[in-house]
Amino acid sequence: MASSTPYLVLLLCLASLLQQASLIAANPPHEPPPDDSREKFAKWATKYAKTYPSHEEEEKRFGIFKDNTNQIGAFRAQTSTTVVVGGFGPQTITTVRVGMNRFGDLQADEFAQQFTGFNSTGFIPAEPSIIPNHTWKPCCVDWRSSGAVTGVKFQGSCLSCWAFASVAAIEGMNKIRTGELVSLSEQELVDCDSGSSGCGGGRVDTALALVAARGGITSESDYPYSGFNGKCDVDKLLFDHDASVKGFKAVPINDESQLELAVAQQPVTVYVDASTWQFQFYSGGIFRGPCSGDPAKVNHAITIVGYCEEFGEKFWLAKNSWSNDWGEQGYIKLAKDVAWPTGTCALASSPFYPTA
Ligand SMILES: *[C@@H]1O[C@H](CO)[C@@H](O)[C@H](O)[C@H]1NC(C)=O
Ligand SMILES: *[C@@H]1O[C@H](CO)[C@@H](O)[C@H](O)[C@H]1NC(C)=O
Repeated sequence: MASSTPYLVLLLCLASLLQQASLIAANPPHEPPPDDSREKFAKWATKYAKTYPSHEEEEKRFGIFKDNTNQIGAFRAQTSTTVVVGGFGPQTITTVRVGMNRFGDLQADEFAQQFTGFNSTGFIPAEPSIIPNHTWKPCCVDWRSSGAVTGVKFQGSCLSCWAFASVAAIEGMNKIRTGELVSLSEQELVDCDSGSSGCGGGRVDTALALVAARGGITSESDYPYSGFNGKCDVDKLLFDHDASVKGFKAVPINDESQLELAVAQQPVTVYVDASTWQFQFYSGGIFRGPCSGDPAKVNHAITIVGYCEEFGEKFWLAKNSWSNDWGEQGYIKLAKDVAWPTGTCALASSPFYPTA
């Protein structure tokens, strides 16, 4: 072997290699590219139809865009590692990917303030329902392949993640039970759930409790999403039901094996900490953080629609409500069965699912 080879030869198994990926020397440094960030920003602003009220604001947003672009570039260099595996030659292994998306002109704290929406005020953990360990559970689940998941939606600048997470779980249950996949109304929850604050943030348990008390929920087409607080259409809430719901259950907290049993039955809502820029710009692979595993830090609700493993690494598959421009076509894979009980980004801290 030529001594000039720039690659480290490792006779380690893939799993430990991935764990050590951040410790291994990354690609050799390249010449810094010419600064074309103005052009990139203009292209990006056109793509997402961004306009700003003033020149000052535009300059401020350009600065943030540039910082985000640089952060993304630096993170990529850190997380891709070129290695020689067995006799297969150099391979680039990327554990998690980040990339520019529609949220490019926002700092992580601004982003969390505008696009999440879990408000924990008044939240008391519900009595958990234990699922027996011997319950049937396949090694991989993807409710999309059973047609139990609607297309990825976009909550817009409304703190309604809780409504989207609840609806995705109800849509899944309804399809599994009736064989029909019907897109259901987040707006009804935004307008009518008095336990939540509409576009000011809310909770999955109050939303599911409302739907259970009324016996069902209206379809998306009958009660479409506006992304603003509106007046509750009581007739639709009471009488126009396109999926029926009888109640909801809480998965025992901080127990990924119970969560797995629940997800094997149907899609399940979870709360996560989505406040880091790596989560904001996640674009694929298995996300392991940074994010907080502290249940007190969760700020966003998503719906787990499956689990599996790739390259020997286990993950949860979750549907988000940030359009299919974010993540893996709108989804995120979160590391599963981690060393701490609350799970990646505290996802195991308070999962719920509806019943019929
Ligand atoms: C069920 O399985 C989990 C994980 O394997 C284990 O920790 C738990 O003790 C089991 N519970 C019972 C009641 O056997
Ligand atoms: C959280 O919800 C409570 C109760 O609905 C509400 O009074 C409060 O204003 C909300 N907090 C925020 C930050 O919106």
